Amino acid sequence: MNGASRERASGAELLAREAAHRTSPSATDLQYGHTDGVIDLTWGHPDPSALATDAIAQAAEVLLSTRGWQALSYGAPAGAMSLRASIAEHLGHVDGVVAPDDIVIAAGSSGALELVLSLCAVPGDVVFVEQPTYFLALRMFVDHGLRIVGLHSTEEGPDPEHLDQLAAEAARAGVGSLLYLVPTYANPTGRCLGAERARALLDVAARRGVTVIEDDVYRDTNPVAPPSMFSLDPTQVVRLGSFSKSLAPGLRVGYLTSTPAVVNRIATCGLLDSGGGSNHFAAMVVGEVMRSGRFAEVVSAGQDRYRARRTALSQALDHDLFRFDEPDGGFFVWLRLPDGCRSSDVVDAARAGGVLVSDGRLFFADRADDSYVRVSFSMLEHDLLVEGATRLNLAVSRMKRR
Ligand SMILES: Cc1ncc(COP(=O)(O)O)c(C=O)c1O
Repeated sequence: MNGASRERASGAELLAREAAHRTSPSATDLQYGHTDGVIDLTWGHPDPSALATDAIAQAAEVLLSTRGWQALSYGAPAGAMSLRASIAEHLGHVDGVVAPDDIVIAAGSSGALELVLSLCAVPGDVVFVEQPTYFLALRMFVDHGLRIVGLHSTEEGPDPEHLDQLAAEAARAGVGSLLYLVPTYANPTGRCLGAERARALLDVAARRGVTVIEDDVYRDTNPVAPPSMFSLDPTQVVRLGSFSKSLAPGLRVGYLTSTPAVVNRIATCGLLDSGGGSNHFAAMVVGEVMRSGRFAEVVSAGQDRYRARRTALSQALDHDLFRFDEPDGGFFVWLRLPDGCRSSDVVDAARAGGVLVSDGRLFFADRADDSYVRVSFSMLEHDLLVEGATRLNLAVSRMKRR
């Protein structure tokens, strides 16, 4: 066991220490930043103090002593069979039958999305998205020259008739089309798409030849997550999964599940052939964490932690100021602001009051709706979440009084 895993520091303390040791603001190995005295509710990252350090260290040790060179060699292009078999078993418990051969290991769900966009789309294709949606997926669509089209959406999800109409137009123009969704504990809303709406969207997708990309990274945050869209219609869907939210994002291990044709197209691509799969060593470590039974332990502890935190944050937010649903999973609460409050003004006022929140406009393809902010409960412990909510309540109630 190493020093980091014995520490009892909170995530916020670990972040503050890391920032204090930097020689310059950019001299960091990490993505996230830290400002002393400020409570940052913008990051959708797991709590640094709760990352699966011990389980991963133990798995790496066992792996190196039992598999030695095989863990350090180039891997199979689709990813180590030992991990694919464990993922198939895990998904079988939560979500119906998936065969190891229907799975490709990737560098996180982002790496899986990159593979899909590189191999199943061409510049000029259309990608339909729910409004709001995961903002960094929008960046990846731009990188690939895709045309992003926001669908009319309500709390029930995107409108299937709107998809039908736009997909028909794309087909008439000879343009390929994709539908990107985060249907389970979505980023940013925390909502789940109901089975009826999911089926209606899948029907349109099947009729119009739209490939559905199901970004499923928050599935393991609730033990009774609804069935995936992939399980409703595997012929139409590429589902992206990840160990970033359950074990650790730094592993960069995720996967996709799809039809044999899509899996074969991706698993035989030049990148995975030349590279020997994605992140073979980390993937083998994850396989060992799953084989040893510690994955179930870590996931269950995460579910308890995040349940307590989403309740703490939801209860501390002022229900007379904000309209929101307390989510059952995921990492986020999506707040509708009081009438007349604009998200950019709320972000500024909150920052001045010592709390950071994400401007909801980021999550709309057209950036038009400025009546929401997103707050995350994943990274900080109870007291900081309550203090962050209190600061936000104060900042917004002051704005309202002006
Ligand atoms: C919806 C969604 N997809 C993908 C990711 C990134 O996942 P990964 O670390 O597996 O690439 C995130 C992380 O915030 C997310 O919210």
